[in-house]
Amino acid sequence: AAPDALPRDLEGLRVVISAGGTREPLDPVRYLGNRSSGKQGYALARVAAQRGAEVTLVAAHTVDLPDPAGAAVVHVSTADQLSEVVRAESATADVVVMAAAVADFRPASRAEHKIKKSDDGGAPTVELVRNPDILAGLVQARPPGQVVVGFAAETGDAGGDVLHHARAKLKRKGADLLVVNAVGEGKAFEVEDNSGWLLGADGTEVPIPLGAKAQLAAAVWDAVVGLRKTQGV
Ligand code: CTP
Ligand code: CA
Repeated sequence: AAPDALPRDLEGLRVVISAGGTREPLDPVRYLGNRSSGKQGYALARVAAQRGAEVTLVAAHTVDLPDPAGAAVVHVSTADQLSEVVRAESATADVVVMAAAVADFRPASRAEHKIKKSDDGGAPTVELVRNPDILAGLVQARPPGQVVVGFAAETGDAGGDVLHHARAKLKRKGADLLVVNAVGEGKAFEVEDNSGWLLGADGTEVPIPLGAKAQLAAAVWDAVVGLRKTQGV
């Protein structure tokens, strides 16, 4: 649909969206990274701007994507940088969406010079430390009435299926909404289409059919608008 065919139901709202994958440096030329394309977060930013929101996109590393029209874009690299910018921007936001793939761990230290091979044929051990949970921190610090949305890419395992893990994650994080993607077998990462569920802290569970990432973005904004209505804001 043409942008002007979309509802302007996010007018007057300031939204902050994180997208892409962080990179955690090992030395000046190497990093630990992940396969996030950034496309879902960019689609959220684009659709929000089309629906009238004032959008700040905090973008970590992505495939080659143009800055979404109508959004202010801040580019970052590490989880620490993403955390700092998202926290500052969120202080005055009505809605925060954490679509970024944040590294759970980073190298304990960053070598000042390029790590060289030694002559003895050995290999170094990389020590990792935990990165802080940005989403959980946002929930703790949020101003009254702010809606916080998280993402989760889950596979089922012996401990439970995708929804079981997702429900537990929503509780643990304390977010209002969790967008759940079922991953594995080529789903979600580096593909155009996403499917999954939207879980609400109020217990609602809405399946999201397989569709374009713009479709999923529209479903997320619909849910945010619905939530703000029930909260009377
Ligand atoms: N997230 C975050 N800070 C982190 C890790 C994740 O803010 N250090 C956010 C992601 O942006 C996403 C949500 O938390 O919105 C869920 O990320 P996910 O990796 O699925 O959750 P984790 O708590 O890291 O759990 P897991 O052990 O399953 O990776
Ligand atoms: Ca994680």
